[in-house]
Amino acid sequence: MTADDLAALHTRAFSATRAWAAAEFSSLLAQPGTILTGDTRCFALIRVTLDEAEVLTIATDPAHRRQGLARITLQAAEHSALRTGATQIFLEVAEDNTAARALYAGAGYDQVGRRPGYYLPKDQAPVAALVMRKHLAPA
Ligand SMILES: CC(C)(COP(=O)(O)OP(=O)(O)OC[C@H]1O[C@@H](n2cnc3c(N)ncnc32)[C@H](O)[C@@H]1OP(=O)(O)O)[C@@H](O)C(=O)NCCC(=O)NCCS
Repeated sequence: MTADDLAALHTRAFSATRAWAAAEFSSLLAQPGTILTGDTRCFALIRVTLDEAEVLTIATDPAHRRQGLARITLQAAEHSALRTGATQIFLEVAEDNTAARALYAGAGYDQVGRRPGYYLPKDQAPVAALVMRKHLAPA
């Protein structure tokens, strides 16, 4: 998938104000440690630094939701992180993002922190970010 493909899917998945531009994806993909998993229906972008990985974003096209795509794409990302040397993986999720929180809870992530007012949605009250972590272990 190209940076343009990723940006288009991201725009469909997130509100326009929260979507990332193609240039941001190009820049991230050029950085060492960035790993892309998924396809044109759902993708995850992670970054591995030594023994820690971070989910940068994950998005499923609204036309393909609730088919298990995010679950398997996240699993693929975790396997890639493990192969690259990560022993744990972190992410941040908006406290009001019910779908993503359910996805991460089901995938075995635990809350390890909370950042009040981290997200600043346009014309809406700030939303806290929950910091979540999962220990990675070979299956
Ligand atoms: C969150 C998101 C990636 C889930 O994608 P998806 O492909 O529909 O998710 P899956 O079908 O793999 O769902 C896996 C599990 O997540 C949970 N889940 C997913 N969507 C849900 C929803 N709308 N409500 C409640 N739980 C949900 C369920 O536990 C689900 O398992 P189940 O279907 O067996 O009940 C998708 O809704 C999305 O792109 N949202 C906008 C972008 C976003 O918020 N990304 C995460 C930022 S941290």
